[in-house]
Amino acid sequence: MSLIYFISLFFLISLGTIIFMIVLPPLNFPRNIPTIPFYVIFLPQLTKMDQIQLYELYIKEPLEKYGAVKIFFGARWNILIGKPEYLSEIFRKEDIFAKSGNQKKIPYSAIASYTGDNIISAHGIIWKKYRNVMTTGLQQFDDTPFAKNAKLFCQLIKTKSVKTEEVAMGPLIQRLVLDNISQTLLGFDFGTLTNEHVALHEHLMRIKRQIFQPLFLTFPFLDLFPLPQRKKAFVDIEEFRRILVDKVQERLIENYEFEQTKFVSSDLIRAYQNKDITHKQLTDNIVIMLVAGHENPQLLLTSLLYFLAKHHETWQIKIWEEIKDIDNNKDLLRLTYLNSFILETARIYPPLNIIINRCTTKKCRLGNDIIIPKDTYVGYHNYSATHNKLHWGSTADDFDPRRWGDNIDDILKNWRHHKNNSSLSSFHGGKRACLGEKLALSEMRITICELLKQFEITISSDWEDRVTPAGPLCPAGLLLNFKERKSL
Ligand code: HEM
Repeated sequence: MSLIYFISLFFLISLGTIIFMIVLPPLNFPRNIPTIPFYVIFLPQLTKMDQIQLYELYIKEPLEKYGAVKIFFGARWNILIGKPEYLSEIFRKEDIFAKSGNQKKIPYSAIASYTGDNIISAHGIIWKKYRNVMTTGLQQFDDTPFAKNAKLFCQLIKTKSVKTEEVAMGPLIQRLVLDNISQTLLGFDFGTLTNEHVALHEHLMRIKRQIFQPLFLTFPFLDLFPLPQRKKAFVDIEEFRRILVDKVQERLIENYEFEQTKFVSSDLIRAYQNKDITHKQLTDNIVIMLVAGHENPQLLLTSLLYFLAKHHETWQIKIWEEIKDIDNNKDLLRLTYLNSFILETARIYPPLNIIINRCTTKKCRLGNDIIIPKDTYVGYHNYSATHNKLHWGSTADDFDPRRWGDNIDDILKNWRHHKNNSSLSSFHGGKRACLGEKLALSEMRITICELLKQFEITISSDWEDRVTPAGPLCPAGLLLNFKERKSL
């Protein structure tokens, strides 16, 4: 009797503690910033609410008023920052708000086994080592595949448009960005634009479905249990990583001019051959090049096509008139409408919205009076920063590319200014600024230019205007109509 009593008591206390830890933030968290109710983060999974509706209803007001809030996310309580001045502070104080990616936060999870310890999530000496090896290859790339692939992409759109009036953009854009990144950074061709069924692509889709299952993303500790379905996922992920690296190595080493190749993957292989990095570090970084290199441009391109289609009678025409006679892609860099349109899209819909991957290395202060305990996860809400009315004025929520200026020098100056004060944090900033920004923007310019030369684009009347439910931000399941331009 008494044993049953003690077991029940133990069970009840454990359950109570777990509920308490989920429902309320830790007692040592700062009291002078608000708490977002713990259930808010589950709403997109339980309702049809998208992440912007959720933000407007539950997060915007407290985050704008206090600059930071306590939020339950990824099975733990975190501090989420929205005020650009606070973002600058955490970006600047790298040693206090230290990067701590999934490999440290949830090392037992499927997502951590996928991307490992890489240039984006590493900290300190290891990060510096990765940065030394990879910066040149990421910044000096050959963009010719973008133009060739944009043509193949347009061809695919034509084929789809013949079959169905509206075109589902997600799968097509994914094929484009995979071919782009594999050819510019990794030295091989995914081949998805010329072949719908590529084994590596299907493998990637399969593991993504397993990794991004909402239940396991919300409660990553479930990966600690020996569930047969998850064990299979781990094996599948490891297999994908191995095949990818083998493919990169084979393709480059087959190339008898390997020593002269300038791909970031060649630099990684050379670093591995010189024993500067281990085979796991080589793999982790090749995988992250593929992941960041295709997923982030995929999001931005989706948003760009959405805004072009939405403003088809205004901005689409203006940009088309600007690009229609250009045949050297280098000239796209100096175009006013095209560039301000792309920057405004990256502002309105920052592709990576909420990023929580920093952990405090000691008790510290944020701003004047927010005291954060050691070992607290701190993240930033990009949408909040890029819509901040103190920095962007009362029209912060309006899509208006004119805000960037009416000549390219002003536009670029404004871009730098807003990146420097973190009111434009879509590509991070400071020492840890995105190394793929130049590449992604070039990819966007070239792709849009080709698309607009060939098509007039509108939004399908069957499509419901909403963005993704959580995490990565872009229009969800976008359907577009394409009409071939008569002048061609
Ligand atoms: C539209 C496209 C892109 C967006 C919006 C974007 C955004 C970002 C953001 C927000 C970060 C900081 C992440 C954090 O706080 O942990 C970042 C870092 C990074 N991104 Fe991108 N990214 C894009 C494209 C790319 C591409 C194409 C690559 C190429 C592989 C790339 C490579 C990197 C790298 C290497 C870092 C880490 C830099 C460091 O910490 O030293 N990104 N990016």
